[in-house]
Amino acid sequence: MHDWYDHKVGQDGHYYHQHVILPNALRLLGSPHKLLDLGCGQGILARQLPKSTEYLGLDLSPSLTKKAKAMQPWKSKRFLVQDVSKPFALKEKDFSHATLILSLQNMADPAVVLQNIEHHLEPNGALLIVLNHPCFRIPRQSGWLVDLTKKLQSRRLDRYLSPLEIPIQTHPSQQDASSVSSSFHLPLSAYSKLLFESGFFIEHLEEWCSDKISTGPAARMENRARTEFPLFLAILARKKNPCYLSTSSEG
Ligand SMILES: C[S@@+](CC[C@H](N)C(=O)[O-])C[C@H]1O[C@@H](n2cnc3c(N)ncnc32)[C@H](O)[C@@H]1O
Repeated sequence: MHDWYDHKVGQDGHYYHQHVILPNALRLLGSPHKLLDLGCGQGILARQLPKSTEYLGLDLSPSLTKKAKAMQPWKSKRFLVQDVSKPFALKEKDFSHATLILSLQNMADPAVVLQNIEHHLEPNGALLIVLNHPCFRIPRQSGWLVDLTKKLQSRRLDRYLSPLEIPIQTHPSQQDASSVSSSFHLPLSAYSKLLFESGFFIEHLEEWCSDKISTGPAARMENRARTEFPLFLAILARKKNPCYLSTSSEG
């Protein structure tokens, strides 16, 4: 599973890293002074950050963490094996930024992950979460619908509001022989509630579309659908000042 992911991402990231996620994430992050990257994989974000950014990447996978270290030329970037959904002993509490790039949706206990981040960010620190869009891309529960008479491609959703744990075959072509990992679906309101209860407020949301362009007879319908239904949701949240913390989300 982890070799497969490393192969897919490579040195410079997979297609959507390169064309959508990294340029937009770097724009939203600005010039991070000290960044904590949770579920860092093989370190793709670290390789895009300037040498001057102090960086700590945490990941559950020893093999991806080893790859991340091997591919990183600068000593200002550190990597540790860590399950971030468990409380962890990290003394630093002065990170200016934290990131969860395509990783929170793989974590069973997002509340603990967000609480951990809150403990290690400096006051007013920023948290950037990038997700496969939870309103349009729910594994096994969403897909395309094509109406050839109207020449319309629309999005079909079978479920949305229910939290789901969805098994994903890592190598679908191998069917039952494939290793299986889990993806966790939450509706948008659940992310908002979790962030609020973990000590964050949402500063900004963005929805990022694919930049691919179809050619051929279905091009018009496909290109329109691609610009109507975003692939990714970015949530930029900020650690609340202590004076906000006693406020209840129930009003
Ligand atoms: C889809 S990958 C994204 C990796 C990287 N951020 C990227 O964009 O290439 C999700 C990562 O989350 C890591 N992960 C999943 N659960 C984790 C946990 N509980 N603690 C730390 N890392 C975890 C996985 O090992 C994997 O590297």
